[in-house]
Formats: sequence, structure tokens, C-alpha cells
Amino acid sequence: MSDVTDVLKQYSEDVVKTIEENLSVIEPQDLQDACLYLTKAGGKMLRPALTLISAEAVGGNKEDALKTAAALELIHTFSLIHDDIMDDDDMRRGMPSVHKVWDEPVAILAGDTLFSKAFEMVIASKEENAHPANVANALATVADACVKICEGQASDMSFEGNFDVKEDEYSEMIFKKTGALIAAATKAGAIMGGGDDEAVHALYEYGRMIGTAFQIQDDYLDVISDEKDLGKPVGSDIAKGKMTLMVVKALAESEGEDHDRLLEILKDDDCSQESIDEAIDLFNKYGSIEYAYNLALENIDCSKKVLEILPDSEAKQLLIALADFVIDRSS
Ligand code: IPE
Ligand code: IPE
Ligand code: MG
Ligand code: MG
Ligand code: MG
Repeated sequence: MSDVTDVLKQYSEDVVKTIEENLSVIEPQDLQDACLYLTKAGGKMLRPALTLISAEAVGGNKEDALKTAAALELIHTFSLIHDDIMDDDDMRRGMPSVHKVWDEPVAILAGDTLFSKAFEMVIASKEENAHPANVANALATVADACVKICEGQASDMSFEGNFDVKEDEYSEMIFKKTGALIAAATKAGAIMGGGDDEAVHALYEYGRMIGTAFQIQDDYLDVISDEKDLGKPVGSDIAKGKMTLMVVKALAESEGEDHDRLLEILKDDDCSQESIDEAIDLFNKYGSIEYAYNLALENIDCSKKVLEILPDSEAKQLLIALADFVIDRSS
């Protein structure tokens, strides 16, 4: 496990430098500080690492995908800043959220600035002699993911307190809000690395499947982790009545008292740790934690299979290790 986090760190060094250089021109200073704040706080850097490794896995150089990798992390950061406003979460990456350090208007603007800078960065790959068709393709890939993030986040918000949500609606929502950007990270890396259509498609599918598993694991960590390890609030999803797979499944399987009690906890905006623990007991009673884990595992197994069309390489082995990391991680 520590091997994988070391790999992510190594791959992200140049990405962080690229981001810091690129954002250093933003004015006024407050906006620049808000834009750089979460990068300085330090995330796992999964998406940019996936972009660089995907470029290598199709036979390209990671340098060819560096600006695109930085762009993917900028889009991710934008989505986190806006997500914390939407979810009303006060902590992110072990620090107060951007809208808490500054205020909501600055946080909205910081997100919008990062979003725009991301597109500038992909276009700037042209200066490094990237093929114009690859740049256009990478841009379209990132734009498509951004639309999906907004659609997914809109569904996530509208599912709050809507206890009739079905598993297929949940699956589409998490693909859009989380899977699509991870799929864009691997696809854009494959494009910038000069991969052929078959390789680009395989990397998109790999990203889509590990991205889906990633959000299932994120939902699980919200239930079982602690704030210190996670760097963001835990129990936040249950308190808000978010429709996670564990909730969808436990509601579908339970009836009578258990069903009513679970609904009561989910509807309570201020629920205590005891109520959260009670919800977790119900998740366990109705097998929903195991069910979620198995679905995540199935996605991880399939994600590795789609990589079989790629020639063997160190990068391919790293992608396989990263797939396992997605569901083994504890933060
Ligand atoms: C958190 O993503 C948001 C989700 C899509 C679940 P990460 O868990 O990758 O966050 P950082 O970048 O490591 O902080
Ligand atoms: C995050 O989903 C999805 C995006 C940021 C687009 P969550 O709301 O579950 O992410 P966390 O748990 O706050 O990181
Ligand atoms: Mg959130
Ligand atoms: Mg959210
Ligand atoms: Mg979450």
C-alpha cells in the first residue's frame, strides 16, 4: 500500500510544480491563495498520476501528458471546492474548507478560476509540440467529464432525502459525479501518449470502472473511518440523507421497524454518533456493506481485465496496483 502512495507522490511532484507556476499569475492575491490552498494542503493526486501512467502504458512519455495531468487535478480541485459548499462540509484534506477560510463567493470564484485554468493548460500542451488533434481530443474528453460531474452532482443533490432512488439511478449518479473524471484522466493520458483507438478505449473503460469503485469506497469510508484519517467529515452522508449504495440496498432489503428506523436516522439532519452506529448495524444486518464491497471488487476485477490488450510494461503493472489501491485505501 505504501508503495502505491509513494508512486502517487513521485508522479505528482511535477504536476504540483506545474499547477503552482500556472496559478501564480492570478489576481487579486486572495483569489490566488484560495485557488492554491487545496493543492498546498495535499491530496492523493490519483487523477493526475493516472493520466501520466496511462500515457506511459500506451508507449508514450509522461512529459507529453504533464499539462493535461495538471488540468485533471485542477478540475478535481474545482469540484471539491464547490462540493464542500453543496454538502456544507467544513473540512477538506485535513484543513478547513475553502468556503470556511474565505467565504462562499470566493470559493465559487476559486472553483471557476481553476475550471478555466484547466482548459488553458490542456491547450498549452501545443507549445510542447503535442499533435493538435490529440489536444482537441483531450479537451473534448475533459469537457465531457465536466458536464457529467455537474449532472452527477445535480442528481446527488436531488437524491438527498429521496428514499425511492433505485440502484441503477445510484450507479449512473456516481459514474457521472466521480467515475467520469477518473475515466477522463486515463483516457486523456492515453490520448496525449499517442495511444491508438483501442488502447484509448480500454483506458477509458478501466478509468470508468475504478472510478465507480472509488466512489463506493468513498461512501464506505464516510461510514467507517475517522475524521483525522480521512481529512474530511465522517458520517456526513448519513446525516444528510445521501443516497449511497449502502443506504439504497439496506432500504430495499429491510422492512417494518428496521426500515422505519433507518429512514428516521436518514431524515434527521443532526443525528448523533449513536444513530450513525445504529445505521451501520442495519447496513450490516441487511448485508449492504458486503454488497457494496462486492460490487466495488467486481468493478476492480473487470478494470484489470480490460488492460489485457495493452503490452506488458511497468506502467501497466502500476495501473493494476492502483486498481487494488482504490478499494484497499483507508483515506
Ligand atoms: C474525493 O476525491 C472526492 C471524490 C470524488 C469522492 P479524493 O479522495 O481523490 O480526494 P483527494 O484529492 O485525495 O483529496
Ligand atoms: C464527491 O462526492 C464528488 C465530487 C467532488 C464531484 P462526495 O461529496 O462524496 O465527496 P467527498 O466525500 O465530499 O469528498
Ligand atoms: Mg462532499
Ligand atoms: Mg457531494
Ligand atoms: Mg463522500
